[in-house]
Amino acid sequence: MAVGGHGGRTRDTVPYVPSSPQQVANTLALLRGRSGKTVDLGSGDGRIVVEAYKQGLRPAVGFELNPWLWHLSNYRAWKAGYHGKVSFLKKDLWKVNLSDCYNVIVFLAPSVKPPLAAKLLAELPDEARVVAGRFPFPSWTPTTTHGQGLDQVWAYDMKEVRRAAQSHAEGSPV
Ligand SMILES: C[S@@+](CC[C@H](N)C(=O)[O-])C[C@H]1O[C@@H](n2cnc3c(N)ncnc32)[C@H](O)[C@@H]1O
Repeated sequence: MAVGGHGGRTRDTVPYVPSSPQQVANTLALLRGRSGKTVDLGSGDGRIVVEAYKQGLRPAVGFELNPWLWHLSNYRAWKAGYHGKVSFLKKDLWKVNLSDCYNVIVFLAPSVKPPLAAKLLAELPDEARVVAGRFPFPSWTPTTTHGQGLDQVWAYDMKEVRRAAQSHAEGSPV
């Protein structure tokens, strides 16, 4: 199962690969104690969003284009007793404005990371934290990381990402 994104170009197709329990736990460990709107971009069967809500990250929202996975997510939320509490939106993540999101979870293919980095830089507030699973953002330096091998996740604080981008731009020859 796969959904094309960012204009539907084939190279940006992101297949459905659900996170393992350890990947979910590591992701939420890097968001512990935080507040504000939490989103999973490409939320699959909703496992991360439901667990985020359970751990107090609210509102918790998943964006998922695949209708089967969207139904499965709502079933998962209902089964957990969170029907009407977590939200799953059948929306293209590239078309959603993220300016009110403070915790952003990204388990997506490496090919979408560069355009996604540009979108996150343009839209997220300075206080936002992005947690990436499976593949880090190639051009960003993580604030912290957790886990090893396939379970490793990376956290990026937008203020630091922007500061690094700015000093890199200032240091670059014109
Ligand atoms: C690798 S899976 C991750 C699922 C979930 N986040 C998890 O970790 O269990 C990526 C998901 O992104 C969804 N997806 C891909 N492109 C999308 C888009 N443009 N908008 C919304 N969802 C998308 C896919 O359907 C798939 O379910």
